[in-house]
Amino acid sequence: MRLAMIGLGRMGGNMVERLLGGGHEVVVYDRSVDAVAASVAKGASGAADLAALCSQLSVPRVVWVMVPAGAPTQQTIDELSGLLQPGDIVIDGGNSNFRDSMRRAEALNGKGVDFIDAGTSGGVWGLKVGYCLMVGASAAAFGTCEPIFRTLAPENGYARMGPPGSGHYVKMIHNGIEYGLLQAYAEGYEILHASNDFALDLHQIAALWNQGSVVRSWLNELAERAFAKSGDLADLRGYVDDSGEGRWTVDEAMRLDVPAPVITLSLLARLRSRQQESFSAKVIAALRNEFGGHAVKRT
Ligand SMILES: NC(=O)c1ccc[n+]([C@@H]2O[C@H](COP(=O)([O-])OP(=O)(O)OC[C@H]3O[C@@H](n4cnc5c(N)ncnc54)[C@H](OP(=O)(O)O)[C@@H]3O)[C@@H](O)[C@H]2O)c1
Repeated sequence: MRLAMIGLGRMGGNMVERLLGGGHEVVVYDRSVDAVAASVAKGASGAADLAALCSQLSVPRVVWVMVPAGAPTQQTIDELSGLLQPGDIVIDGGNSNFRDSMRRAEALNGKGVDFIDAGTSGGVWGLKVGYCLMVGASAAAFGTCEPIFRTLAPENGYARMGPPGSGHYVKMIHNGIEYGLLQAYAEGYEILHASNDFALDLHQIAALWNQGSVVRSWLNELAERAFAKSGDLADLRGYVDDSGEGRWTVDEAMRLDVPAPVITLSLLARLRSRQQESFSAKVIAALRNEFGGHAVKRT
């Protein structure tokens, strides 16, 4: 198929490469000319702006957007909306909020343009092993774009979740689960690291656990890789960002009255990781000192 890719970062650039390898023709745009040149060197056609990108496609045009969620995605879709025609399809593969996707689908549908939210998982490894795609789409748009999904995904690695919005909804929960899994591994390895009874080798343990243990997993294989590079992660700060899906998952759990303590606490642990000092801990120390004369540590 012929399609366009907007956003050639860690995800979009590799996805273009996988699509080209699968025999698709890809027209690319990124605000970085170097990123466009890199994809062109691999066989894509470059475009200098979105108008040029759309003019290189034939109807129905299929445009995959792979830029950061929020304002960059909104700006890109707004601009595309003025350039596309009825029958064209916009696919958002970024980590957008599912409510934004439902709203964008409705706005584009009003112009006869289809919208697909394709929650994409696989990170930088997707180029080689394929991307798991959680797709929200009309049945017709899904059918039109299926050759693209088939190439990007590993075998059985894509599916239609339901109408627009459902793909990003499922991806949101996927990422919420990821928060909890990461937190559990992190806590286990921290206890092992803190152990003063044994001088434990975290790389050895991660490698061992990947051989038949109950906690073996792809994430633990990544732990094995990370500890092979640095057994105590001495060169890293314990600062963990989030890009929204965890807090949206917690919001949704609250809305539905679903208790989700692990995911919620793993989000809160990320917030704590960004503080140099905890004001709440200071308050606790101060109050214990006031009521019981308990010792405090001074700055
Ligand atoms: N990385 C992952 O593991 C992963 C996994 C699944 C989904 N996602 C999602 O996939 C999307 C892309 O992620 P990524 O990791 O590829 O991000 P990235 O490496 O930061 O790449 C994003 C690309 O979009 C460009 N861009 C930023 N703002 C733009 C704008 N307003 N208009 C046009 N282009 C713009 C960036 O250009 P500049 O370099 O100039 O900023 C960059 O080339 C995000 O929604 C992300 O949440 C990421």
